[in-house]
Amino acid sequence: LRTLKVALLGCGNVGAQVARILIEDADTLAARAGAKLQLSGIAVRNVHAQRDVDLPQELFTTDADTLVKDADLVIELMGGIEPARTLILSALRNGACVVTGNKALVAQDGPTLHEEADKAGVQLSYEAAVAGAIPILRPIRDSLAGDRITRVLGIVNGTTNFILDQMDTTGAQFADALAEAQRLGYAEADPTADVEGHDAAAKAAILASLSFHTRFALENVHCEGITSVTAADIAAAKDAGFVIKLLAIAEKLNVADTETGGGEGVSVRVHPTLLPREHPLAAVHGAFNAVFIEAENAGELMFYGQGAGGTPTASAVLGDLVSAARSLVLGGPGRTETTTGQVSALPIDAA
Ligand code: HSE
Repeated sequence: LRTLKVALLGCGNVGAQVARILIEDADTLAARAGAKLQLSGIAVRNVHAQRDVDLPQELFTTDADTLVKDADLVIELMGGIEPARTLILSALRNGACVVTGNKALVAQDGPTLHEEADKAGVQLSYEAAVAGAIPILRPIRDSLAGDRITRVLGIVNGTTNFILDQMDTTGAQFADALAEAQRLGYAEADPTADVEGHDAAAKAAILASLSFHTRFALENVHCEGITSVTAADIAAAKDAGFVIKLLAIAEKLNVADTETGGGEGVSVRVHPTLLPREHPLAAVHGAFNAVFIEAENAGELMFYGQGAGGTPTASAVLGDLVSAARSLVLGGPGRTETTTGQVSALPIDAA
């Protein structure tokens, strides 16, 4: 079997699990991918930091640039815009496939990243960026490519669903429920991104862009978080037969505009929403995520699962990685290497 070098950028909650699975399940992954996936290094800020997972110390480096230059497949799990953006662009220009879980970056700069990937003829995938373990982007992009999606309703932030659910079922206070979500590893490093809805807004922009085949910029997503939802609001909703959920909503609208003659638009927004208790999304408890899709021909579909946490999110990353490796094995252009002073695209033969 051919060996493909895998560079991992970032070793937080998800990155550490990705590294562990790459090492522990190496034989299975090789069989699935048709190539050995060799973890060539893990770029981190501090090589001596304490980590939950015991990983070979020699894999750690602070030199992300060098690691990326020598990789066939790059997994970016650093989060944030820079240096993730520069490293991803450099990997793509070098002919490496890129897998990322970086929703903020994809929501902000998806078109630029896709353009570079298309130019290089390599895969750029980010299933882990939306709803953790749930396969949702590939079904929207591929399985529903022959249909027309009319509406997407998503519980795409585990932290806020956990908080609202705790408040609804146990009467917990907002602050206690948030602390528990942080302890369980669901919340972002700065939980403001969760509770103010920014994390869900980035995911909404990605879902809307793929569902409606156009670009929805993050700044155009109306966003309201859950910080002003009180125990009294939740109790009143309950009495009336509703539950309050933070939903990411992307839906087609018929715009009645007398000046332009009207037409179709899409509304993309995140806000606390009153859902009837019998709606399938009302049954999504704890930190679970779910995405409910309405399409012209398929009708209603619901995707449910773990939307956060190291191991579940690692599952989505590794699924993308195997798919990217297969594309290289089947003859993708592969990474460029400098040989005798020239830069050339090296075709990668099938194993
Ligand atoms: N903080 C996020 C959540 C993690 O709670 O859903 C996954 O993006």
